[in-house]
Amino acid sequence: MTIIEKVLLKKNISFKPIWFMRQAGRHLPEFRKIRNKNRDFVKLCFNSNLSSKISLQPIIRYNLDAAIIFSDILLIPFALGQKLKFTKKSGPILSEFNTNKFKKNDRKKFIKKLSPVYKCIKITRKKLKKDKTLISFVGAPWTLLVYMMNLKNSFNKINNKKFNSLRKNFKPLVNNLIKYICLHIDQQMKSGCNVVQVFDSWAGLLPNGYLKSLCYEPNAKIVKFCKSKKYPVICFPKGIKNNYASFAKFVKPNALNLDRNIKPSWAKRNLKSVVLQGGMDPQILLKSDKIILKTAKKYLDAFKNVPYIFNLGHGINPRTKPKKILKLINFVRRKNVKR
Ligand code: CP3
Repeated sequence: MTIIEKVLLKKNISFKPIWFMRQAGRHLPEFRKIRNKNRDFVKLCFNSNLSSKISLQPIIRYNLDAAIIFSDILLIPFALGQKLKFTKKSGPILSEFNTNKFKKNDRKKFIKKLSPVYKCIKITRKKLKKDKTLISFVGAPWTLLVYMMNLKNSFNKINNKKFNSLRKNFKPLVNNLIKYICLHIDQQMKSGCNVVQVFDSWAGLLPNGYLKSLCYEPNAKIVKFCKSKKYPVICFPKGIKNNYASFAKFVKPNALNLDRNIKPSWAKRNLKSVVLQGGMDPQILLKSDKIILKTAKKYLDAFKNVPYIFNLGHGINPRTKPKKILKLINFVRRKNVKR
């Protein structure tokens, strides 16, 4: 069992492992070098050898406790028939959603389309030391729907008119997505991953009356699936503020990733039933060493006596200097030795 699995199962509560969301990405010059030669992001994700190489880059540079597979949550809608493009200006764009096409999918076709991801996992697991965790991930149904149906505007607000005109159709879509999300989790875990992370990056945009049906319930079904297979699972319902407490009670994942709005002291008091991960604002890594280490200390002190995995409140900002990250890692590691 890897150290992160031990922490997730509360078998080790003193050691604080460390990894970062978006550790494999644009802040690394060695990633940018590969990316510049591979302009098509989807093709790069499906190049098993290169995506494995990218997944291992942050481990080689920083010796982190986990590698996360270089892939994207939007490969699910892609595998379900929507065309996918990443633009520099407006991020990912999916072609128009088509219900009939969506319904025509089947498990076999889906697995075949995503097989390069599973091959990447097999290659990566072979090259990764046994004590390192390999993290698989998926997007939660609501966050996938936001992209699949283009539900938010450029100010990252929900397009209410669109939401209201489409919401009657959500339930069967969500249930169908859960089926494929669980299938993708299962295939990733069977290929060699140890832990699952479920990203509900846009949970904070849900109108309050829909939090239960479009966030808690779908996440709970995915967690139930993971638990039935004994896959340790971390949920990240970003932006839901104090509702983190009711999320924890309803969904019962092994762990919750905190976002930057959750105060560590509040989390310690109100999220006692779950293991915690992350929380520190990634923008802090653009500041001075003194501020970085002071903020990190706040998290390490608050979670001294409870199982905690060091990470951030969202992905690493691409402008972050690797030197700053190394400083932070060394600080967390030194604290571990002292304890
Ligand atoms: O190190 C890692 O975390 C590995 C892989 C990873 C990527 N995307 C690669 C990526 C992971 C875990 C994701 C998850 C993901 N993708 C989420 C959930 C987490 C979050 O950020 O909220 C979401 C919402 C997406 C969808 C997505 N992919 C967006 C909105 C964008 C554009 C914004 C951006 O950060 O560029 C992407 C592109 C993307 N996915 C990049 C990477 C490394 C950058 C692409 C590039 O190199 O141009």
